[in-house]
Amino acid sequence: MPKQRHRLTYANCWEDADLLVSRLGDIRGEKALSICSGGENSLSLLCGEPALLVVVDKNPMQLALFELKVAALKSLEREEFLGFLGYWESADRWRVYELLRGDLGPSARAYWDRQRVPLESGVIHTGRVARTLRLLARFVFPLVHSRDCSRELMSRKSADEQAHFFRTVWDNRRWRAMVRALFGKPAIFLISPERDFFEFHSGSGVADFLLEKSRRHLSSVAAQENHILHYLLFGNFGQHLPHFAREENYDAIKARLEVVVTHEGMVETAFPTFGRFDAFNLSNIFEYKTPETFEALAGSMAAGAKLGARFAYWNVLVARSLSAVQPSAFRNRLDTDRDRSVPDKGWHYSRFLLDERVDL
Ligand SMILES: C[S@@+](CC[C@H](N)C(=O)[O-])C[C@H]1O[C@@H](n2cnc3c(N)ncnc32)[C@H](O)[C@@H]1O
Repeated sequence: MPKQRHRLTYANCWEDADLLVSRLGDIRGEKALSICSGGENSLSLLCGEPALLVVVDKNPMQLALFELKVAALKSLEREEFLGFLGYWESADRWRVYELLRGDLGPSARAYWDRQRVPLESGVIHTGRVARTLRLLARFVFPLVHSRDCSRELMSRKSADEQAHFFRTVWDNRRWRAMVRALFGKPAIFLISPERDFFEFHSGSGVADFLLEKSRRHLSSVAAQENHILHYLLFGNFGQHLPHFAREENYDAIKARLEVVVTHEGMVETAFPTFGRFDAFNLSNIFEYKTPETFEALAGSMAAGAKLGARFAYWNVLVARSLSAVQPSAFRNRLDTDRDRSVPDKGWHYSRFLLDERVDL
């Protein structure tokens, strides 16, 4: 039974799976480790046909959500799956759950049996982050820009038209004031997804950082297809689905679920059981560490990786780079803060990093 002090935080991954999948390299036949969070980015990795995918999270509730998503993938056709999870409309989610619950382990089943309301609303809209974003989309953003204006921001248009729309319509005083109010201290501490996120960051400068990142992303055509932006503005993904739920990926993922195992605990606790890995998706877990703990963890990651292994991870506010703290064990292959031509739908991250395990 998952311990009660744990709560579901992430019903979705707010990181760009297209970027992850395209940059992690060829993982066919390899052993991959992926942080669970909402689970979809781990599922996306199945498109690369790894021999083993170990999905890790220290929070058992995230793994209970993952189990539910896997059970739904196994049994449902794509349309029903999208309806059940909440991407699309559905009137009979509880009935579908009753069909799926037999596929869940006892802990996950005991948990989801008590979650009728979240299940009926669609599980991708539950958890702390999605609930906060939906409140913002419903009550706060409309104070700044109307729904029509948000639709216009995401409508198809040329690069010049997008930049012009952002400059002349979107980027007004109210928009900037709202970002400053929501992401200035102390409000940022209230809406932060996890209590310890700001332990290593003062919170100051977050609004400026987000305004600058938003300016770059929202004035580019990439914004027009961004499912994360759509959720932020409208409280749903609309027609813009994350990588794993798209038609071209769904069946490939469904066919490879047997190589997935889950592991509850801190990431480094997976190594004694599963040995060394070839590829890692580490979300932005390094930001929740002191510099000293991060340095020690970098050593553990080096020990848990085969030579040539790739590490994909993000930074939001706190700079954490494996190759910077352990240059003899890691070499950086991509840093999107340096190479700004690489698109990242998670524009609120400061950078995506891809490091390789080397032996110098
Ligand atoms: C780092 S958080 C960030 C979520 C991400 N920014 C997103 O939007 O999807 C993702 C997940 O990592 C888990 N996590 C954080 N640090 C971890 C660690 N050291 N080992 C295992 N799981 C960890 C959390 O429980 C959470 O479910």
